[in-house]
Amino acid sequence: MSHAGSDERTGSSSCRLTFDGTTVTARPGQSVGAALVAAGIVAWRTTRREGRPRGLFCGIGVCFDCLITVDGRPGQRACLVPARDGMRLSAEGDRDGDDSDGGDGDGGDGDGQRW
Ligand code: FES
Repeated sequence: MSHAGSDERTGSSSCRLTFDGTTVTARPGQSVGAALVAAGIVAWRTTRREGRPRGLFCGIGVCFDCLITVDGRPGQRACLVPARDGMRLSAEGDRDGDDSDGGDGDGGDGDGQRW
């Protein structure tokens, strides 16, 4: 049984991030995407055209479905950004005057049918 603040397998401390004001616990080095999914948060942006929810898809930095704002920097790939204590995460499109999906680079709807 694990307990808050440590990982019994490694003995390392956990870190705390916030996602749109909700505290999320992660292991140091775990990607922010993995931390969000582990916390039950599976979508943090929507597609431009259809407004479909998106989160992790490929998990390896290829699809850009997981774009998220990290400490005020939009367009970060949640699957590649290591979790650090005190990070502030927010859903893409929450910035003032911007309701795009963060510019996923393919101009597509991010429906996972590009391959
Ligand atoms: S999940 Fe595909 S780039 Fe992050």
